[in-house]
Amino acid sequence: MDYLFWKAMHSGVRWLAVGAAVVALVLLIVGLVTKGKYGRPHTLTFSVLNGLLGIQLLLGILLIVINRAASGNVIQHLLFNLAGMIVIATGSARAKRATGASQFQTALVRLLIGMVLIFVGVSRVNGWA
Ligand code: HEM
Repeated sequence: MDYLFWKAMHSGVRWLAVGAAVVALVLLIVGLVTKGKYGRPHTLTFSVLNGLLGIQLLLGILLIVINRAASGNVIQHLLFNLAGMIVIATGSARAKRATGASQFQTALVRLLIGMVLIFVGVSRVNGWA
């Protein structure tokens, strides 16, 4: 299998994930500021974001399998990104179960933490350029 092809896919899907994360961020901030209702747009955006991060996990594992090796930087990349994905996924699940304004707060705080972890994780490989 072509390592460079799958790496390009993994690299490209990152921007879809960034797009979904930014949409989620904006929706949560607007909801918090306007004291809106946590609903379908929020859960749908998180489903898309969590799905894209899941695809990244699978593509990343595929790269390691094809390469039959993982450098120290790749291991750090994997661990930071995995932690970020888990924080975002559990945060969005908790937000669904919470009530009132804490739905937005829970989702927002965890999304921000997850995004920082993923930002650091991607910086461990070829970075954001
Ligand atoms: C947690 C699961 C993940 C695993 C196992 C994984 C694994 C990998 C591997 C093996 C590489 C190739 C490194 C190399 O050949 O130099 C890589 C590169 C990369 N990964 Fe991940 N990754 C994961 C998650 C993510 C996530 C969540 C993102 C961004 C949203 C991401 C973005 C990137 C980028 C931008 C590169 C560099 C691609 C390039 O050089 O063109 N990865 N990853």
